[in-house]
Amino acid sequence: MGRRVLRSAILLVFCASALAFKEHEFKKCAQTSFCSRNRNVQQGANFEIVPASIVLNTATLTATLINQPASKHLQLTVASHADGFVRVQVDESPSVGRYQVPTDVLISGWENKKQPFTETGRTSSKLTLATGEDTKVELTFQPFTLAIMVKGQPALLVNSRNLFNFEHRRTKQDNDPAGYWEETWQGHTDSKPKGPEAMSLDLVFPGFQHVYGIPERATALSLKATNGAAPYGEPYRLYNLDVFEYLDDHPFGLYGSIPVMLAHKKGLTVGVFWLNAAEMFVDVVKSRSEVGTQWIAESGIVDLFVFTGGSAPGVLASYAKVAGTTALPQLFSLGYHQCRWNYKDEADVKAVDGGFDSHEIPYDVLWLDIEHTNGKRYLTWDSSLFPSPVAMQEDLASRGRQMVTIVDPHVKRDHSYYIFAEAEQQGHYVKNKNNNDFDGWCWPGSSSYLDVTSPVVREWWAAQFTVDKYKGSTKHLYIWNDMNEPSVFNGPEITMPKDNLHFGGVEHRDNHNLYGVYYHMGTAEGLKLRGSQLDPENGDRPFVLSRAFFSGTQRVGPIWTGDNAAQWSHLKVSVPMLLTLGLTGLPNSGADVGGFFGNPDAELMTRWYQLGIYYPFFRGHAHLETQRREPWLFGPDHTARIRAAIRGRYALMPYIYTLFRFANTTGMPILRPLWFEFPEAEDLFAVEEEFMVGPGMLVKPITAPGVSSTDVILPAGARWYDAATGAAVTAKNRHRVQVTMDAIPVYYRGGHIVPRRERPRRSTAAQASDPYTLVVALDDKSEASGSLYVDDGHSFAFQRGLYLHRSFSFSNLKLTSSVHVEPGVPDGTLTVPTTIERVVFLGLPPSRRGYKALIGGKRSEPLEAGPLSMVAAPGSEHALVLRKPDLPVSHDWVIEIVTA
Ligand SMILES: *[C@@H]1O[C@H](CO)[C@@H](O)[C@H](O)[C@H]1NC(C)=O
Repeated sequence: MGRRVLRSAILLVFCASALAFKEHEFKKCAQTSFCSRNRNVQQGANFEIVPASIVLNTATLTATLINQPASKHLQLTVASHADGFVRVQVDESPSVGRYQVPTDVLISGWENKKQPFTETGRTSSKLTLATGEDTKVELTFQPFTLAIMVKGQPALLVNSRNLFNFEHRRTKQDNDPAGYWEETWQGHTDSKPKGPEAMSLDLVFPGFQHVYGIPERATALSLKATNGAAPYGEPYRLYNLDVFEYLDDHPFGLYGSIPVMLAHKKGLTVGVFWLNAAEMFVDVVKSRSEVGTQWIAESGIVDLFVFTGGSAPGVLASYAKVAGTTALPQLFSLGYHQCRWNYKDEADVKAVDGGFDSHEIPYDVLWLDIEHTNGKRYLTWDSSLFPSPVAMQEDLASRGRQMVTIVDPHVKRDHSYYIFAEAEQQGHYVKNKNNNDFDGWCWPGSSSYLDVTSPVVREWWAAQFTVDKYKGSTKHLYIWNDMNEPSVFNGPEITMPKDNLHFGGVEHRDNHNLYGVYYHMGTAEGLKLRGSQLDPENGDRPFVLSRAFFSGTQRVGPIWTGDNAAQWSHLKVSVPMLLTLGLTGLPNSGADVGGFFGNPDAELMTRWYQLGIYYPFFRGHAHLETQRREPWLFGPDHTARIRAAIRGRYALMPYIYTLFRFANTTGMPILRPLWFEFPEAEDLFAVEEEFMVGPGMLVKPITAPGVSSTDVILPAGARWYDAATGAAVTAKNRHRVQVTMDAIPVYYRGGHIVPRRERPRRSTAAQASDPYTLVVALDDKSEASGSLYVDDGHSFAFQRGLYLHRSFSFSNLKLTSSVHVEPGVPDGTLTVPTTIERVVFLGLPPSRRGYKALIGGKRSEPLEAGPLSMVAAPGSEHALVLRKPDLPVSHDWVIEIVTA
């Protein structure tokens, strides 16, 4: 949630509808000393490899890089890893102890799994090495360049444009340029005790036209060049900031940063990850023959991972080996979340909760924003508004629902507040440059900030979340971390001064982009601890939503895209924003449905729900000053449409949860750009107007008012079925479809089986023993496959094998259920009493006599034309439905289709 009630109250008076991104409050490259020094640098030609220094030790090459004119020495290390990547590091030689991102941000296990290099050629000017199945590394000595080839094609060139630079630590000279040792921005002076230490990396993707990634920003999926017209004359920035009223088409960096980029062309995907948590700028320039990028970071070292798996799934799987996969979420957290700044008191909570039931709209979680606390002292309650929080949570829980409260990292400086006093006494706060507890301004006024970069502080913080410590909490209460960029209202660019000091004497400059993920981790550890106290055997999966993020956040919990606005353009840009997060390993994400700022009209609200039901994290949220907008407040017609949309989400829960299982085991995204599924179709590489949900569904959101028809691209090479009617779509590629207000175009992809649960319920908990429907959408060969993952939905028992994962496949007119086998993953041992109650076939070849099904070789039942879905609008006869197969979901079985 955004900042400054006062500020926005004033805005409302003067310009009620205009958005007000305060561009001047944020720095541009030219206003930033390290960026302007390096953006046009041509230093790369001065760096050369000393051939005699090269040492090749199995999978690791080291060499000295020298800048002759400046007589600077660097150490270059190139290592080949068995998990599908090459790691390139550059640091000063000898080491001066520059900052390196701590290993706990990543996961361990990959470091020592190396893949030997074979020297395949050496001359006086270059050296070539081969590794893995088809990766080659070519080092040129003078000037230094490094080329990586994958599958016989050049995939990445380092320093081919001579933009490489590396600023050494130095002693202060009288004639040093301005900005080396001090820099002032809007009255904030950054003392730079270590002087300049920036780096520029020159990364070219030869033969590519499209690059993706480096979130977070509200911009296109296929990144635009940054040498274009304003605002695209600025490099993309990676510096976690609380950006008030952000714009919907802008290169500016928002609340989180993942320094990962993918380049894709026909036949090849390559990925890069610069493990560096300092402020970073990335330029993108495009020509007919390549995409050139320049990455400039303020401090740290060069630590570049190049993922050489060759395909997008391969790149993401390798990245997941380093940064981890998505935590398997609690099932309830994939339901609908209702949030507002603020649900005022216990009576309001009860009324909103009752509103969902009386309007028969399912939801799972009710959220409380900052006003629920005693004066913005997190982990406390306003005792007049919320006198009995335990009873309130238990009441929600009696209907299978949960509550989320907000907990932010700024701690009110008040000695009578137990959190403040204890953390102060134990020295747990970030320090200012003079080594005193930093005092910054945020919601509660004067505040200090927990130094969560320290494992000791995180452990102390985690201990605050047990039910005995967090008064008024129950096991049904989960947490929302906002403002963790961190947001400091009176700080430079609304964040902490870069010369603040963290644990181990680390400057905030070095680890700024890690603050959010560390805070998120500490909080999630707290809920884990609570869960393991309440259920030592199985525990409870944490649910903590965060606004700020970095690589590794996927292991902790979901994020949302912050303070968007109730505008069509913000609905639209949410799609490329979430697709980009999925491509950079953080698929559990969502945008606030309805838009945080402003008042959506009924049409925008309805269209946003129709899209939002496909967001991995699905929450409605609104600013303090907006009109109430619970889903039933837009008139009966719109209420009915929103009800149908949200019920549609609940019907899809088995599919979404199964996709999360794959995200957890393999790193695959939930929402996927079309090119991810159709990597050879060049005309899809920039498509962001529609997207895939897993491999089996395609969604085309409606992103403008008054739309009665829209163009849909249905990629060639697949069969598509209208998900509302089951009708096969005969038109290929782009085709025009009529739309009403009742739904947006959604399609099943032939070749896939999608599990569903079709009984309308009030929450995910109420669905727990409902039977399943399988939608079997056939491809051109009349085949299809899919799977269903089931576990208890909340504990860690699945890690002991207590889960059920079934594989379904249809071929030769036989639908078979068997154990899903995944390499390296043990088979599940859980059985559940649930059944398959319906099977819907799409695309069976026409048969004059009709079909019947032989179930388990015994019973025979007719297949009848009928509606595809029990929750969708009736009246479609395009599906062939097998009613009442009543087969146990845990068992092996076969259904054979024969002509009647
Ligand atoms: C899957 O998620 C759980 C937590 O939800 C996590 O402990 C586990 O490490 C994840 N699996 C993998 C392969 O990362």
